[in-house]
Amino acid sequence: MPPSSIEDIVSGRCEGESVDIRGWIYRKRESKEVIFLVIRDATGIIQCTMTRKNPFWDIAKKITIESSVLLSGTVRRDKRAPGGLEIAVEKLEIVGLAETFPITRDQSEEFLRDVRHLWLRSRKMSTIMKVRSEVLRFVDDFFREEGFVEVSPPMFISSACEGGATLFGLKYLDKQLYLTQSAQLHLEALIYSLEKVYCVAPSFRAEKSRTIRHLIEYWHVEAEWPFADMDDLMGLEEDLVSYVCQKTVENCKKEMEGLGVNVSKLIAVKTPFPRVTYTEAIERLISKGFKIEWGEDLGFDEEKALAADFGNPFFIYAYPRQIKAFYCKTYRDDPDLVMSADMLVPRIGEISTGGAREDDRDELLKRIRELSLREEDYDWYVDLRRYGTVPHVGFGLGVERLLGWMLDLENIMDTIPFPRTIRRFYP
Ligand code: 4AD
Ligand code: MG
Repeated sequence: MPPSSIEDIVSGRCEGESVDIRGWIYRKRESKEVIFLVIRDATGIIQCTMTRKNPFWDIAKKITIESSVLLSGTVRRDKRAPGGLEIAVEKLEIVGLAETFPITRDQSEEFLRDVRHLWLRSRKMSTIMKVRSEVLRFVDDFFREEGFVEVSPPMFISSACEGGATLFGLKYLDKQLYLTQSAQLHLEALIYSLEKVYCVAPSFRAEKSRTIRHLIEYWHVEAEWPFADMDDLMGLEEDLVSYVCQKTVENCKKEMEGLGVNVSKLIAVKTPFPRVTYTEAIERLISKGFKIEWGEDLGFDEEKALAADFGNPFFIYAYPRQIKAFYCKTYRDDPDLVMSADMLVPRIGEISTGGAREDDRDELLKRIRELSLREEDYDWYVDLRRYGTVPHVGFGLGVERLLGWMLDLENIMDTIPFPRTIRRFYP
């Protein structure tokens, strides 16, 4: 018989049966006559008990926290057991005896990050990683249902998408190249054959700042599609985010409640999301006493203040040209503004940026020159406007920011197994 999963046993399906399980020692408690071993596998935990007359007593005695084990026994109901079921141990084998596990109660965040490779075994981290996996699945489900084709963009790039300040340089054999900041420019090339495309891939930013919303390596959901305008863009983005929220609550309610997440906040995420223009956002901020002028970029504090008003995801769109990237399309009746939209959520601020792309070759070249970018770096990108150009839109959404908001996490570092920040790259 194959080993049972602890989830199966806890569900009550195996009551009265004999089962084999495998896992790790999560807790151990012993008295003179009984040893209680709580065993953990990927699906849950269960209490296993053994009395002194058991032939495996000596093995149980020497077993340590986090040792890996094979265990057989009978599932029985016991009011005193957490969850009401336990296993009466009949056989116990140590696979790997653990040394004294360094993680005990009440340890600092800093220490837990130093031993991240071990801390990932905690209930908190493993629950977050399961929810993360579900969120990624629902992102895929959404795009496929909408008829998008998944594509695989390059990680090594020769020209910046989001400006030089956060560009990560590296040696590529004997050439100087960069790590990608966004797949957008390459996705744009793919719409001419596949039309609706998306990817979920790492992006890299040489961020010097230490904030609760910045990583150096993060996962980026990006999509791009033709024959579409700003309404289509914001419509698809809000459909995606509300779909992911509803589905995740539906499938991970138990896990989320275990993490102390307020799921009603996510159930309340319904389309359409409120939309305000950048100009309206500035007016709101000024009326709140912020010292900000039209044309300035919104900072973390400004975004948080605006998001607190809405309480739910919302969009800010139509930004001043000077604070957005070279590829943004200008409003033809107001060239000081570009067709760019950010989605914001409470506590974190921006979780996505998208917009319409400049599809006119001359306008695009004008922007490249205005920003003093190296024209030859963008030849291929400008080419896309020479052969069958088309109005098109796209966006990028940070997986970790989305997850951090959904799960009410204090820090973006806990949304990813091995966070990379200015100070953290080990383990
Ligand atoms: O706003 P950004 O820089 O926009 C772009 O890269 C566009 N080219 C995307 C596109 O249109 N295809 O980044 C998009 C999103 C941000 O809204 C944020 O959620 C996330 O990526 N992001 C980060 N997440 C974690 N750490 C960082 N350092 C991030 N920088 C951006
Ligand atoms: Mg942005």
